Amino acid sequence: MAFGGFIADAMILKGITLLFLLSLSLCSSYGLEDEEDHLELERQLKLINKTPLKTIHTEYGDVIDCIDIHKQLAFDHPLLKNHKIQMRPSFPLKGLTNEDSSIANQIRVGLKSKGCQTGTVPIRRTRKEDLIRSKTFASIHPNTREVPGSHFATLMTLKQTNASLSVLHGAKAYINVYNPRLAADQTSSAQIWVENGPFDQINSIQAGWIVSPLLYGDYRTRLFTAWTADGYHKTGCWNILCPGFVQISKEVSLGEAFTNTSVYNGDQYETMAHIYQDQVSGNWWFVYTDRNIHVGYWPKSIFTDLAKGASQVSWGGRTSGRPEAPSAQMGSGYFPDGNLHHSCFFRQILYVNSSYVLQGPDKFGTKVYVDKPDCYNLDYVGDQKNIMGHTLLFGGPGGNCGN
Ligand SMILES: *[C@@H]1O[C@H](CO)[C@@H](O)[C@H](O)[C@H]1NC(C)=O
Ligand SMILES: *[C@@H]1O[C@H](CO)[C@@H](O)[C@H](O)[C@H]1NC(C)=O
Ligand SMILES: *[C@@H]1O[C@H](CO)[C@@H](O)[C@H](O)[C@H]1NC(C)=O
Repeated sequence: MAFGGFIADAMILKGITLLFLLSLSLCSSYGLEDEEDHLELERQLKLINKTPLKTIHTEYGDVIDCIDIHKQLAFDHPLLKNHKIQMRPSFPLKGLTNEDSSIANQIRVGLKSKGCQTGTVPIRRTRKEDLIRSKTFASIHPNTREVPGSHFATLMTLKQTNASLSVLHGAKAYINVYNPRLAADQTSSAQIWVENGPFDQINSIQAGWIVSPLLYGDYRTRLFTAWTADGYHKTGCWNILCPGFVQISKEVSLGEAFTNTSVYNGDQYETMAHIYQDQVSGNWWFVYTDRNIHVGYWPKSIFTDLAKGASQVSWGGRTSGRPEAPSAQMGSGYFPDGNLHHSCFFRQILYVNSSYVLQGPDKFGTKVYVDKPDCYNLDYVGDQKNIMGHTLLFGGPGGNCGN
């Protein structure tokens, strides 16, 4: 399950096969297979990339297509054939406080040009390499404790025994944005998880920032989302690489690169991510940046357990890579030492409770999970009673911390 080896190993294998075949003069049948793979990828790309009404080239080398909102990939999902688009949330959540001023600069990810025209949504165009790389999704198993090479430093709500209190409807936080250093086959993220269901069939929605050369082909810090409705077996993907997420915003496209990232002891940048369930429709919204942009939603109907609400929400960092190699940096690459200019932080940490009200997690209702304390740590300092609100610091240098 060394997901990092996927591409490299496949290429080495191909080289060896080719040599072997050349000497046996059996190239043609294998050439055909390559051709079939190629055609299959082209076929998938045709299905994924809808016809754009306008195309935007970003300074980060991404191609963003403006797609008719009613013709987006989401509606290829078998359960969304007759889906009626929800253009806005049914009503605003209770418990939002004044979060305007900040110790960090807000980074506004968003298209620099005027964005997409009304009635269309910006979708990052999927290239063949993206499809090949995205096959690693199934073997990455985000937030799976037992996968070698994957490490976590997270704060999670405790599962309630009282069933009427056990249903949560979302989580949010301001997340300090860094650009941890890592190898080509490693991934490092700071994110929120919203989950429900048995381990093997877990329903999970995730969002935050990530550095993942495997996913994006570069080392930039980028916005990401991910979901699965069956423990990563057959459903789900990163961003909009498969049908499911319904995009509403004509400003933000999933996978966009952050313009600025924080520097240890220097300028700090942050962004806001919020996942919550609509009280009326049951759909799960993704809200982004301090401007509360409703980027879109995961329809309730694509989930099983999450359709009813979440049993647990978490905040923190994850790294993954080859189990036998040293682990990647997490957060700023420094352990939490109490200084907000040193380690990466989450502030204004809130979850949406069973009465659909935003609430700060108290220390007794949460637990901290760090699987490799030699490499990473997380310090939940609770409610700071100021603009920071409920705050955690996390991260670490990685290195040799075993599997
Ligand atoms: C569960 O919590 C609800 C709401 O606080 C309360 O009314 C109910 O009595 C609790 N049930 C149990 C079994 O503790
Ligand atoms: C981001 O960095 C650039 C170049 O360093 C700077 O000009 C710009 O003002 C920064 N943006 C923000 C929002 O601080
Ligand atoms: C939800 O949070 C609000 C605000 O803290 C609180 O008043 C309410 O009792 C909470 N509901 C439950 C079921 O815990």
